Amino acid sequence: MQIADFALERYFARWEFAVRHLLCASDVEGWRMADLLALADEDARARWAGLRLGYTESTGDPALRAEIAHLYATLEPADVLVFCGAEEAIFCLLTVLVGPGDHAIVTWPGYQSLHEVARAAGAEVTLHELREADGWALDVDRLLAAVRPTTRAVVVNAPHNPTGMLPEPGEWRRLGEACAAAGIRLVADEVYRFLEHDGRAPLAAGADLAPAFVSIGVLSKSFALAGLRIGWLASRDRDLLARCAAFKDYTTICAAAPSEVLGLVALRARATVLARSRAIVTANLARFDAFLAARPGFATWVRPAAGSVGFPRLAADLDADRLAADLVTAEGVLLLPGSRFGHPGNHVRVGLGREDLPAALERLAAFLDARGIA
Ligand SMILES: Cc1ncc(COP(=O)(O)O)c(C=O)c1O
Repeated sequence: MQIADFALERYFARWEFAVRHLLCASDVEGWRMADLLALADEDARARWAGLRLGYTESTGDPALRAEIAHLYATLEPADVLVFCGAEEAIFCLLTVLVGPGDHAIVTWPGYQSLHEVARAAGAEVTLHELREADGWALDVDRLLAAVRPTTRAVVVNAPHNPTGMLPEPGEWRRLGEACAAAGIRLVADEVYRFLEHDGRAPLAAGADLAPAFVSIGVLSKSFALAGLRIGWLASRDRDLLARCAAFKDYTTICAAAPSEVLGLVALRARATVLARSRAIVTANLARFDAFLAARPGFATWVRPAAGSVGFPRLAADLDADRLAADLVTAEGVLLLPGSRFGHPGNHVRVGLGREDLPAALERLAAFLDARGIA
């Protein structure tokens, strides 16, 4: 298999653990082990204390699958397949789902594996561009106009990385109905679900819209547990899940036993876990919004509607790649230039999930002040 470098991940491999402040992380500040374990119920405490470090069930621990199924309106535990992160779930799903002669439509700019894996599997890919001039909105009519007789999958990431786009519920259902009527699988990457801003409700999960549709989830983002590497596919199409499970025998076989128990703890305490994430992201969204309002000479943005990232556009006299490079050198603060998504606009991704965002903004302010950028 020939696959292009994952530009964003290569950038993080270079910088993530070498900088003072990650102002572009997409995850929420990770839980400390002791704090998470303090949320465990009696059953989970017993599972943790008595855990044997052997292989686990390749489909995922049954209790974990049951808790994941509770995140959906129509699913049972058997409709859930556990992976090592959403990344593995994406890799297995798209490799199984499409091949030479097939066509897929994928939202863009976006998380590269959503389109790159389909391409590497031999499919033709049409990128559905989200446009800043439209408020980054999903354009359902334009998307459907790209459908071909060979279209097997429509892949939508919502809440969206990097723009924070959340489709209008009516448009989301309309897309689902059109895909179902055309026999096309809707694949919904929902890893930022449950981080909706300003009182918006989560969208109906893709897997709940139609039996063939697939939801991709993970504990890394809204649940603030990236280190567990627990992700999943959810779908009522159990034949598809079985094919993905068979493919997974060639990647990781099964998840890490400690991660499955810790994931169970988090999902059973999800009200507490999600409230913490929302509190962090909501406060940071207000801070970043105020920062931009006070410095129009730096950047402007379409305020994200959901998720833990946003995609401001720098002022015309600044260059996103140059500024990110100078900022990390001068202040140890990392921004992610839009070029890492292959996006030609002058944008940077900012992350709203980290507790050191106020300190990162102070350094960014000092950097801008030193250059007379207001
Ligand atoms: C849209 C999207 N999907 C999937 C992933 C992969 O999640 P993980 O790295 O936790 O497997 C990410 C990570 O940034 C993402 O932004």
